Amino acid sequence: MASTIVIGGGDDVSNAFARRLAQHLGLNYIEAKRKIFPDGESYLRIEEVDIELNEAIIVKSMAPPQDKSIVETLLLLDLLKEKGVSKVTLVVPYLAYARQDREFLPGEAVSIRSILRALRRAGADALVTVEIHKEESLRFFEGRAINVSPFSFMASKITVEGSLAVLAPDLGALRRAKEFAEALGAEFDYLVKRRDRVTGDIMLEPKSVKVKGKNVVIVDDIISTGGTVAKAAELLLSQGAESIIVVVAHALMAGDAASKLKKAGVSAVYAANTLPLREPGLVQHIDVTPLVAEKVSEVL
Ligand code: R5P
Repeated sequence: MASTIVIGGGDDVSNAFARRLAQHLGLNYIEAKRKIFPDGESYLRIEEVDIELNEAIIVKSMAPPQDKSIVETLLLLDLLKEKGVSKVTLVVPYLAYARQDREFLPGEAVSIRSILRALRRAGADALVTVEIHKEESLRFFEGRAINVSPFSFMASKITVEGSLAVLAPDLGALRRAKEFAEALGAEFDYLVKRRDRVTGDIMLEPKSVKVKGKNVVIVDDIISTGGTVAKAAELLLSQGAESIIVVVAHALMAGDAASKLKKAGVSAVYAANTLPLREPGLVQHIDVTPLVAEKVSEVL
């Protein structure tokens, strides 16, 4: 029987992630060929798919444009199943549409449910992803699904000097801050955030965290527009924090996020290598493929 092969999903981030993953797992690596037709539709081909292929690990990040990445993921899964690959493990470094995980307003589409159901139906037998917005969303995937939390691992790769406090920008991110802080033996806390569900405006209410004179690390799952982290940074600096760095799993850096963060006093952002590197002057990637490889081997 042919051994498991790791397939890069055709775009640069997925290919690079897949290549490293294959090295850590000691498996062969191949790459999907990808091109875009003049009308914008995606073309994908796995030339080697007709070799005897019993099991495959396919890596596809749902980087912007997210909708296109999702369609490409479905095309690849369907191709592998059509060619008779019996077990397909889908590794999604960044799983898009995860923040709409319930009906906040009546009648809203629960996007993560739709995406996870579609991935399963298209042929994913198992799913491994990095820091989904809420781990319980994985119940929508009717198969083995693993969330890889990268924060302890990331803590071991970052040097923070002096007196340290680790802050989650909201209660939902407290587990993330805790994991990061505990790996360094630092104190941790969270800020109280309210988001207006209609306008999307964020209001932060100070909590009794003692950050005066401390180097503060803000830990969250994602930077999208940068609004959440920028507001947290401003608040913490106004309370006497010495410096602010940010650690996130996914740095989307949408729109003017980088200038927003710099203006708010953020000196550096560390993100897992789940998305293309935007704003390299501010954002640095940490390669989490060794950690993901450990988790992938649990489902092989
Ligand atoms: C919210 O619950 C998430 O954990 C993030 O804090 C949020 O999605 C970040 O988005 P933005 O950068 O647009 O504020």
